[in-house]
Amino acid sequence: MMNLTVKYMGLPLKNPLIVGSCGLTGNLKNIREFAGKGAGAVVLKSIFEEQIRIETEHFLKSDHEKVKEWTGTFDAIVSSAPHAWDEAEAYIANFAKEHTMKDYLDFVREAKQSVGIPVIASIHCVSGYDWTYFARRIQAAGADALELNVYVLPSDPDTDGRHNEQVYFDVLKEVKKHLSIPVALKIGSYFSGLAHTLKKLSEAGANALVLFNKPYNPDIDIHKLTLSASDIYSGENQYQKSLRWIASLSGLVSCNLAASTGILNAETAIKQLLAGADAFQIASAVYKNGADIIPQMLEGIESWMAEKNFASVSDFKGMLSKSNIEHPVAYDRVQFMKHYAKIE
Ligand SMILES: Cc1cc2nc3c(=O)[nH]c(=O)nc-3n(C[C@H](O)[C@H](O)[C@H](O)COP(=O)(O)O)c2cc1C
Repeated sequence: MMNLTVKYMGLPLKNPLIVGSCGLTGNLKNIREFAGKGAGAVVLKSIFEEQIRIETEHFLKSDHEKVKEWTGTFDAIVSSAPHAWDEAEAYIANFAKEHTMKDYLDFVREAKQSVGIPVIASIHCVSGYDWTYFARRIQAAGADALELNVYVLPSDPDTDGRHNEQVYFDVLKEVKKHLSIPVALKIGSYFSGLAHTLKKLSEAGANALVLFNKPYNPDIDIHKLTLSASDIYSGENQYQKSLRWIASLSGLVSCNLAASTGILNAETAIKQLLAGADAFQIASAVYKNGADIIPQMLEGIESWMAEKNFASVSDFKGMLSKSNIEHPVAYDRVQFMKHYAKIE
């Protein structure tokens, strides 16, 4: 019997397989199924910062009768002070946020009660303002940890890299202020000094870095002459970017590393663990194969361990990280010198 246990952000996991945040982790039935099939942890579908904002605006635009019904206190506020409208608006905005968040908090609470594995809540955020106090409510609802999915696309030519990168630090700092549970940052790779920034984020208090989240990528339909969207599910070779950076950062950052994107089978999961991942997340694999992919991947890892005589994950985790191999420069190579020189 192999020992697949790992610690992720201080949480004991029975194995390093985490079902990542996606539509499938947005309902209790699936979450129970994933736990039953052996997942080590689950990241709930994200609530979006924008969702909180949009629903707040929608609420504010609603007719006042309805608002009165919802809040019960609208008239009282409006008639109580000279600047009552502003005050009422602020009250309603807060009420709307509470309302939106309530569903998510109920979901976190029920998910936690439904399964015995760690439940990681998730917020997709673009700023560190105005919503972060909800993080404490998520903690109170029973989440074992919080994953922040932050993506700043550096597409504005008038905004420099430092300004873009500061957003990640601001979000982390604001959220950490409210929480005692661990916080993971799920981020993209658009940083000019990626390794440096990730190291700084770990020093700033991130308990884990999830490398990487997967952006929506626009595509072009040459027949319709319109924009289209690229495939939402990952393909076979999409794990390689994550592999390089997990391997490069393993041992250099003070926090845990979770590999994400393109982990579709046991083989890619093993590669990520050898590179130094403390855990790995899967989403496309579950969409493509159903929940049975969970035991299949775990069995695949176990039989590989048996073949290699590894008794536990710690026996091989990070074995092929940049800091543990003889020629670490292999992870820094970006040009196919040998291949380009030979292939005619
Ligand atoms: C349909 C779908 C919905 C997703 N929803 C979320 C989400 O709400 N929050 C989030 O952080 N990631 C979300 N993701 C991204 C996944 O968590 C994951 O980062 C991405 O799919 C890459 O991993 P994979 O190659 O295993 O699919 C979603 C992915 C898919 C396919």
